[in-house]
Amino acid sequence: MIEVTKLTKKYGDFLAVNNISFNVKQGEILGFLGPNGAGKTTTMRIIAGYMPPTAGTTKVAGYDVFEEPIKVKSQIGYLPENSPLYGHMTVKDYLLFMAEIKGVAKAQRKSRLNEALHKCWLEDVQDRLVSHLSKGYKQRVGIAQALIHDPPVLILDEPTIGLDPKQIIQVRNMIRSLKGDHTIILSTHILPEVSMTCDRIVIINKGQVVAMDTPEALSKRLKGTEKIYLQVMGAVDKICARLGTIKGVLNVSTHQDGIIVENDGQADIRPYLAEIIVKNKWKLLEMRSVGMSLEEIFLQLTTVEKTQITQKGQEAQQEVRR
Ligand SMILES: Nc1ncnc2c1ncn2[C@@H]1O[C@H](COP(=O)(O)OP(=O)(O)O)[C@@H](O)[C@H]1O
Ligand SMILES: [Mg+2]
Repeated sequence: MIEVTKLTKKYGDFLAVNNISFNVKQGEILGFLGPNGAGKTTTMRIIAGYMPPTAGTTKVAGYDVFEEPIKVKSQIGYLPENSPLYGHMTVKDYLLFMAEIKGVAKAQRKSRLNEALHKCWLEDVQDRLVSHLSKGYKQRVGIAQALIHDPPVLILDEPTIGLDPKQIIQVRNMIRSLKGDHTIILSTHILPEVSMTCDRIVIINKGQVVAMDTPEALSKRLKGTEKIYLQVMGAVDKICARLGTIKGVLNVSTHQDGIIVENDGQADIRPYLAEIIVKNKWKLLEMRSVGMSLEEIFLQLTTVEKTQITQKGQEAQQEVRR
């Protein structure tokens, strides 16, 4: 449905996107993951036809984005990074206005409006002023305007940025519910977001693709790196030594006022940790998983790509990370 081939974008001399290629199949949700400045917005703007590439091609539903821009725009709904909304309009009027701009025939606007309100869970607020809505609702209005002309493809640039945790879950679930009817690319710089929402992940860093896989396969490749943070009252040396004997634990270290247990990720070791701590009458104050930072993931992925996933390779990576 979307074919990006050897796409490159330079801003002056600065190479923001460097020869990237990937495809998105019909009905798929593709996560575009990368830290700030990786080139996500640049790539998405090119796919949506808002900016020409320096080199390479992009096709949507078989149409070349720059040879047939009008056909492509009818196929795409785009939520830009900072979605511009008209605060003085009601949700309903704003969406009707966007339907008109996007060329939806007058006779169909009402039914398109109702469908967009329904899909984005906005029915209850349709008569409210956009400026009076919470950020989570505003973001859903942004997504509703992207799909008001019923495009098969949705391009959502950081749809959950700036939302609180509850709103993030709502927007994520809403995006998942659009799956099937739409082919979706969504960008984010948050790792759990793509694992939860997406069928496939493209990871980019400094304008280049560093990995492309399913969330399951990626997490398998990243295995050996799960970390658990513990705060325990007791003799730290003794505790560390004992926890180090648990099957699957690779390393135990102290960190500020807590302990970090690194394990191979084969099994959830938290129940064993808790059991041993309680048995020894140490006092467990806190226990949580420590997600890997994106930087750690990139370091690992780029090392993995170069060294293959051999035992030696993993040891070498761990050396690098220390
Ligand atoms: N219009 C522009 N002119 C010059 N540099 C830009 C422009 N837009 C983005 N950049 C630079 O290109 C790189 C990629 O930016 P962007 O695509 O916005 O990344 P992301 O969305 O992943 O954060 C960044 O280093 C950014 O500073
Ligand atoms: Mg961006």
